[in-house]
Amino acid sequence: MSHLTVVDHPLVQHKLSLLRQQDTPTVQFRALVGEIGQLLTFEATRDMPVVKKPIETPIQLTEAPLLSGRKPALISILRAGNGMLDGFLSILPTARVGFVGLYRNEETLEPVEYYFKAPPNLGERTVFVVDPMLATGNSAVAAIDLLKREGAKDLKFICLLSAPEGVQRMASAHPDVPVITAAVDEMLNSNGYIVPGLGDAGDRIFGTR
Ligand code: URA
Repeated sequence: MSHLTVVDHPLVQHKLSLLRQQDTPTVQFRALVGEIGQLLTFEATRDMPVVKKPIETPIQLTEAPLLSGRKPALISILRAGNGMLDGFLSILPTARVGFVGLYRNEETLEPVEYYFKAPPNLGERTVFVVDPMLATGNSAVAAIDLLKREGAKDLKFICLLSAPEGVQRMASAHPDVPVITAAVDEMLNSNGYIVPGLGDAGDRIFGTR
């Protein structure tokens, strides 16, 4: 999988445009995050390993492909990543789930860790990290640093929207981690928000503003 995959499917793009609109209500925003999360998961999982196993159809015995290997891990970067959990799990319900808690120091824009809980044996699983916004890339890079320290080797990062700065930062810090996103926007503004973006993803998912 290449380092950056922009999922330019019309359904994804349409839903993303609805998500960007400032008058989209919380209920619809949350549902759209889930739906786009599902569609991105479909793309992010396209190279999952399968093995052929004997199965019995109502007609005859045959060999058919089934997912192989350890159950994948799904890691949400708190708190906005939680908005993408249900969409992901609706596609891949067997995934084990973990959380990385990072908050952004609003002055330095640097991530500060406050919570970490991940499934065991990370090194034997594909680890999908979700966060709706890849802005500066600081949180994503810090979360992946932590996960690698815990043994993760095969990682993918899924986000709804990204800034060129975040994509670049991920590519230089973690060139081995593919990024799957619905769009790369123009830039970051001086507050670290993606432009044109969609605003504060966490606030819009959870209705906290
Ligand atoms: N986090 C957000 O929620 N929105 C942005 O635009 C950037 C970071």
